[in-house]
Amino acid sequence: MSNGPDDDRQQGQDERQDAFRRLLRSLPVWDTELPHFDPATAPDDPLPLFQQWLSEAARAGSIEPHTMSLATADASGRPSVRTVMLHDADERGWHFATHRTSRKGRELAARPEAALAFYWPAVGRQVRVQGTVTAADAAESRADLGKRSPGALAAALVGHQSEELPSYAELERASDAARERAHREPDAPVDSWTLYVLSADEVEFFQGDARRRHVRLVYRRTDTGAWTTRLLWP
Ligand SMILES: Cc1cc2nc3c(=O)[nH]c(=O)nc-3n(C[C@H](O)[C@H](O)[C@H](O)COP(=O)(O)O)c2cc1C
Repeated sequence: MSNGPDDDRQQGQDERQDAFRRLLRSLPVWDTELPHFDPATAPDDPLPLFQQWLSEAARAGSIEPHTMSLATADASGRPSVRTVMLHDADERGWHFATHRTSRKGRELAARPEAALAFYWPAVGRQVRVQGTVTAADAAESRADLGKRSPGALAAALVGHQSEELPSYAELERASDAARERAHREPDAPVDSWTLYVLSADEVEFFQGDARRRHVRLVYRRTDTGAWTTRLLWP
């Protein structure tokens, strides 16, 4: 029986895989007292409930409750997902901003539909939003950037998002130049930076339950613009 370097490497890989699986099984979920959600008390419109849940997640100590997964798809329907910040949620929809020239920006141009997912572990809650995405005009996009930190302007000025980066040194150079420009010119235009608004046609609220009797309440927008609600099996 051989016990050469290939066998040793394989044994090392198997042990790492076992340790990884043990770790996954040992990680707790909702190791905390979860709030109760009674869907009978839910409002007619999903927006106030979303705002309430985000506020409660923040109060319960959820870290960065205003970050969300944003899923888009390319023209052939191939999906992609990433994290972005929520800039607002109002009667127009859920607002986020990015470069129009990035992968997600190009995908939204080809197929202006997206899905969002929020997960707030401190309260065992998830919200899913899906709908149609509209790009705001240049003035509103620039105004949105203007409300954010100077660091956000500098980051946006770097540009080239989703393009191949030849070397990290190149990013350092571009970032230094962008910081300097953001400081000198706080109103500097960033042509590709775009505010997007997702107008929802479906919003689902999920409240985790320790006994796994999770509550799923889904709002769907009808042709008249009114919302209907239904419960879903978890
Ligand atoms: C917490 C967090 C917040 C982020 N917020 C944004 C954002 O608001 N806008 C943005 O363009 N990218 C944001 N990013 C970076 C994106 O996740 C992603 O890497 C980038 O937008 C490129 O995505 P794309 O190549 O799919 O277009 C954030 C990343 C993290 C981890």
